[in-house]
Amino acid sequence: ELGYFTYDPGYGATASCKSDITYIDGNEGILRYRGYPIEQLAENSSFLEVAYLLLYGELPTSDQFAAFDRDITYHTMVHEKVNNFISGFHYNAHPMAILSGVVGSMAAFYHDKLDVNDPEQRDLAAKRLIAKMPTIAAAAYRHYMGWPSAYPRNSLKYSERFLHMMFSVPAEDYEVNPVAAKALDLLFILHADHEQNASTSTVRLVGSTGANPYACTAAGIAALWGPAHGGANEAVLNMLNEIGSVDQVGKYVEKAKDKNDPFRLMGFGHRVYKNFDPRATIIRKACHEVLDDLGQADPLLDLAMELERIALEDDYFVERKLYPNVDFYSGIIYKALGIPTSMFTAMFAIGRTVGWVSQWLEQSATPHRIGRPRQVYTGAGERDYVPIERRN
Ligand code: SDX
Repeated sequence: ELGYFTYDPGYGATASCKSDITYIDGNEGILRYRGYPIEQLAENSSFLEVAYLLLYGELPTSDQFAAFDRDITYHTMVHEKVNNFISGFHYNAHPMAILSGVVGSMAAFYHDKLDVNDPEQRDLAAKRLIAKMPTIAAAAYRHYMGWPSAYPRNSLKYSERFLHMMFSVPAEDYEVNPVAAKALDLLFILHADHEQNASTSTVRLVGSTGANPYACTAAGIAALWGPAHGGANEAVLNMLNEIGSVDQVGKYVEKAKDKNDPFRLMGFGHRVYKNFDPRATIIRKACHEVLDDLGQADPLLDLAMELERIALEDDYFVERKLYPNVDFYSGIIYKALGIPTSMFTAMFAIGRTVGWVSQWLEQSATPHRIGRPRQVYTGAGERDYVPIERRN
C-alpha cells in the first residue's frame, strides 16, 4: 500500500523540478543549453560564454561578456589559508577528496555573504565558485607533485589559466599550448550542464534546505566522484589500460555482459540517452584532431574505438541501447594534455560547477519546497521491547 505516492527507485520516472536551463531528448540524442544545440556551442562558443548563457539565460553582448570575464578573473585567487588547508592533506589524497573538502570550507571564508535570499550575494557566490574551482583543482595537483602553489595568471583566459596553474614550475618559462587550451575549453563546455543528473540533483536537494552554495557544491562534488557518474572518466582509462590490447576487447565485452561478474563497460550506458550521447560524438572527433594537432599517437584511442565497434554490434548492448557516454573518450584528451588520470573527475567538476550553480541559482530564485522523497517500508511490523537479559 503506497498511499498517495509512487515507488520509483532511482527516480527513473520522476521530474523533481521545472527548469529552463538544459533540454535533453534521450531518444534522439539531443542536448541543448538554453535552446542552443550543443554542437553549435562546441563549434563556436567558449566555456566562459557558455557559463554566462547557463547562468543568465542569454548569450552575452560584448559588454556583458567583458564585465562577466572581469568579474570571474577578479575572483580567481584563493585565500592563502586555503593553500594551508590543502597542504594539510596527505600528499597523495585523491583530488576529489581535496576538492569537496576545500569547497565546503569556503563557506567559512565568506560567512558574511551567505544570505541565500539575497540575489546579489547568490550571484557573487556563483562567480566565486566558477572562478576558484580551477585554482583549487590545480592546487590539489601541485600538492601531490610537491610543487609550490601557483597564483592564477589573470592575463590568460579561463582554460589557459588553468593549464598554466597546473603545469608551470618556477624554473621554467611555461607557455600554454593553444591547441591544449582550446581542447580543454571544449571539454568544459560539454561538461557544463546536464539537467537533473545525480550530482546536480544533489546540489538542488541540499539547496532546498536553504544550505549555503558552498555546502551544496561540495555535496555535488561528492556525488560526482562515484564511478557510476563523473568518476567513470577515471575508470574508463583504468579499464582501457587493463584491457591492454585490441585482441583482448572481445573478452572484456563478454565479461561486461556476465551478470555474475561485477565488471561493466565504463563510459557506456546512460539513464537518459537511448541513442548516442551527442557529447561523446563531439569528443571522439576532437580526440583525433587533438592527437593530430599535438603530434601524438595514443594506442588507447584505437582500443577505445575497437571497443565501441564490437560493443555496438553485440545484441546485449543493442537491445539495452547502451552507447558510449560523455566519459568514454574524454580521458584520452585529458591524457594527451598531460593531465593525470586521478585528476580526470576533478576536470569534470570544474566544468560542471557552472551547471551546479546555474541550477542552484534557478532554484533559489523561485519558490520551492524542501526535497523530501518518501520510501516503501519493508521492515518488521510492530513488536514489543524485550529486556536484554531475555534476548537470545
Ligand atoms: C555520467 O545522468 C547524467 O546525465 C550523468 C552524466 C552527466 O553529464 O551528468 O551524463 C555523466 O554520469 C555518465 C555516466 C557515467 N557512468 C558510466 O559510464 C558507468 C557505466 N555505466 C553504468 O553503470 C550505467 O549505464 C549508468 C549508471 C550510466 C546508467 O544506469 P541506469 O540508468 O540505472 O541503467 P541500468 O543500470 O538500469 O542498466 C540497464 C541495463 C542493465 O541490464 P539488465 O539488468 O536490464 O539486464 O543495462 C545494463 C544493466 O546491467 N548496463 C550495462 C552497462 N550499463 C548498463 N551493462 C554493461 N556495461 C554497462 N556499462
